[in-house]
Amino acid sequence: MLFLTVIFIQDYLLKSNVSETQANQLAQSNIIASQIAPYMNNVDNLYTRTYIEDIIKQHSFDSNSRVMVIDRERNVVLDSYDDFESQTLNVLEVQNALKGLNSANIYRHGVKHVMYSAVPIIFQNEVIGVIFMSVNAETIFTNVQSILDKLIIIFLLALFISLFISFFFAEIISTPIEKLTESVKKITLGNYQTKVEISRADELGELANAFNLMSAKLFQVDDRRKKFVSNVSHELRTPMTSMKIVSDTLLEQPHWEEDVYREFMQDINSEIERLNHIIDSLLYLVRIEKDEIELDYSVTYVNYLIEKVIKTIKPIATKKNIEITFISNSRIQINLDQEKMQQCLLNIIGNAVKYTPENGMVNVELLDMRDNLAISIRDNGIGIPEKDIPFIFDRFYRVDEARARKTGGTGLGLSIAQQIVQLHQGQIEVESGVDKGTTIIISLPKN
Ligand SMILES: Nc1ncnc2c1ncn2[C@@H]1O[C@H](COP(=O)(O)OP(=O)(O)O)[C@@H](O)[C@H]1O
Ligand SMILES: [Mg+2]
Repeated sequence: MLFLTVIFIQDYLLKSNVSETQANQLAQSNIIASQIAPYMNNVDNLYTRTYIEDIIKQHSFDSNSRVMVIDRERNVVLDSYDDFESQTLNVLEVQNALKGLNSANIYRHGVKHVMYSAVPIIFQNEVIGVIFMSVNAETIFTNVQSILDKLIIIFLLALFISLFISFFFAEIISTPIEKLTESVKKITLGNYQTKVEISRADELGELANAFNLMSAKLFQVDDRRKKFVSNVSHELRTPMTSMKIVSDTLLEQPHWEEDVYREFMQDINSEIERLNHIIDSLLYLVRIEKDEIELDYSVTYVNYLIEKVIKTIKPIATKKNIEITFISNSRIQINLDQEKMQQCLLNIIGNAVKYTPENGMVNVELLDMRDNLAISIRDNGIGIPEKDIPFIFDRFYRVDEARARKTGGTGLGLSIAQQIVQLHQGQIEVESGVDKGTTIIISLPKN
């Protein structure tokens, strides 16, 4: 392609330069011809001859060419270079000129190019001689060649630049996109820990960052899902196993006393209750996650909500002789999902009663704090060891399995409570010390 273009341009440049030189030379020859036409018949006269000779030598000098005056018999009458006189010049251009035509052509002499041109000398409508000119045409070729050399350099430069640009773009755009595609494929195969290493300050860098965030999130979700499934299976298997043991024992020996049957059946019954409890909590958790986007908000007096929850729990507390008190510095009304917030408070106040020994106390306090409100639930119960505090909101997490089993529960209560508080854009905090008691503080934004 490049080669063809160069050939084409070369051809065009040569043709236009040649025809320009031809026109130039013929025009000059015609000027000389018209200048000397009136004197041509008198060329033998020394005076006339000198006059004509002056003219052609001047032109020859001016245009760096050789000029000859030729008569009708093709004999050279005068030569600006003096050495061709009285010889016959029988070239094509002279023949044409004698027929009354202008012509100019380029010939190659060895390595040199020469242009021959000839025009008729016309006097009184008759061809009486010829002006023949020969000029070195080498400059035409060298000029064209030098233009071509420059062109080729420009072409090569353009080629180089375009190659460079395409490599540059490949590096800047294609490579990162390939990396991203590769990572997306890996993620599709379940490899959630995939990261793309593109550290750049532009849109692609941002995309890579967003991608890495997404894969980290996916990894987290997948990890949580796996743990959850394994925890659920474990939690469900435990009561199943104890029921299996109890029923196996019953079946092994056909003749048990009736009250042994009764006792074993009670065990099975309480395990079933436990299972039910776990399944209910699990279903509730699933429901919260499904409802995540739509909370059923209504304007509610938080005081009223807390009183309602305390009323529900009171019978259990009374059994343990635990007093539940409630104080509040004002009546506060906010937008919340009543059913969910009630469940949340039920779990937390329920825990306070559950993990406080007989004759203990539980204090609930509602505080108005300008932008948000705080509900604190304080008990003087068994408390939580420091090392367990970071985990108590995890699903199924229970402090000291043996102790927890005695009290009954699923380890889902706080997880549900935290989820509900977070759905309300709130926060939940714990302070606790073993045998000192526990305080849980829920803060909720007012709007
Ligand atoms: N008020 C509290 N005092 C002492 N320990 C508590 C209290 N609240 C929660 N915990 C501990 O945190 C664990 C998780 O609580 P939760 O999610 O409600 O599960 P559970 O079904 O066991 O009550 C409990 O098992 C208990 O060990
Ligand atoms: Mg609980």
